[in-house]
Amino acid sequence: MTHCIALHSYKGGTGKTTIAANIAAILVKSGKKVALLDLDIYAPSLHNYFKLTPKKYINDFLDNNADLNETIIDVAESLNDKKLQPGKFYAGFSNPNRDAIFKFEISNGPEYWKKQFRKLVFLREQMITKMDMDYIIIDTSPGIRHWSINALSIADKLILTMKMDDLDIEGTKKLLYDIYTTFVKFGAISYILLNRISGYCIPVTLINDTDEKINTIHERAVKTGNSTIKMQNPKTVLEGLEVTGVKYLTPLPCYCDIQFSSREFLTVVNNPNHPFSKNLQIIIDEIIKDNL
Ligand SMILES: Nc1ncnc2c1ncn2[C@@H]1O[C@H](COP(=O)(O)OP(=O)(O)OP(=O)(O)O)[C@@H](O)[C@H]1O
Ligand SMILES: [Mg+2]
Repeated sequence: MTHCIALHSYKGGTGKTTIAANIAAILVKSGKKVALLDLDIYAPSLHNYFKLTPKKYINDFLDNNADLNETIIDVAESLNDKKLQPGKFYAGFSNPNRDAIFKFEISNGPEYWKKQFRKLVFLREQMITKMDMDYIIIDTSPGIRHWSINALSIADKLILTMKMDDLDIEGTKKLLYDIYTTFVKFGAISYILLNRISGYCIPVTLINDTDEKINTIHERAVKTGNSTIKMQNPKTVLEGLEVTGVKYLTPLPCYCDIQFSSREFLTVVNNPNHPFSKNLQIIIDEIIKDNL
C-alpha cells in the first residue's frame, strides 16, 4: 500500500520543505521506495537543494507535456550518496520560472482547473500503479490557496507544521477549523507538528563536537528543562484544538546549527546521530503506526 503524506502550514518558513525531504530520506534509508513531490508551486525550492535542473516539471505533466518517467526522476543518483541505499529516492519538481508560476495565478476558468486537478490525481495514481511507490511525500504552499488545497486533497496523512509565534498560532487555529475539520471528516489523518520550538540550542563551541556529546546535552535539556530558554509547552499554547480530531506529533526544537547553516539540508543523511534526525525518526514511527 502506498502512503501519501503532505506537509503544510499556515505561514511560510515553518520547516515544511526541510521536514518533507528529511522524512523522505529516512524512509529511503530504511529501504522504501519514495517519491518527494514539490507541490509548492507558487514558490518551488526543492530543485535548489538537490542542485538539479530537471528537463520536465510537474507543471509539464499537468499540461500533458511530459510522461511519468520524465516527471518523477531518480534523485539518489544525482545526490550520489551511498548512504541513501537500500531504498529508492525519486522526486518531482515544480517549475520555478516566472511564467510558469504566473500561469497558476491567471484565471483560466473552472474547466481548466478541474482538468489540472484530475491530472494531479492521475499523477498520484500512476506513481502508485506504475512505479509501485511505498511513500509519496508532498511539500505544499503555505495557506489556503487553490494549489495548497489541491495538494492536500491527494494525501492520506497531513502534517501541519507550525512555529510557536502568536500570528502562526492564531492562523493555524483558523486553518484547523476552516479546512482540516473537513479533511478529517473525509478520512485524512491530520497531525500538528510544532517545529523550531525554543528551549534547546547547541552552544557554538560544541557544533564541531562529537555527536555523542551533543546528544547528551540535548537529552539533559529535554529531561530537566535545564536549557538557556525554558521549553515551551505546546499543549498549553494550542489548548482546545483537540476538538478538530488532529493529533500532536513529538515537537521539534529549533537547532541553531541547522537554522544558521547555509548548506545543511538532508541532516538525517549527513548527521544521523543529530537529535533532529533522531526526533524525526520518532515522528515517522508515530505517523506510520496510524493505519488508514
Ligand atoms: N527544527 C529546526 N531547527 C532549526 N532550523 C530549522 C528547523 N526546521 C527548519 N529549519 C530551518 O528553517 C528554515 C525554513 O525551513 P523551510 O524552508 O523548510 O520552511 P518552509 O516551511 O518550507 O518555508 P516556505 O513556506 O518558505 O517554503 C530553513 O533555514 C531551515 O533550515
Ligand atoms: Mg518550503
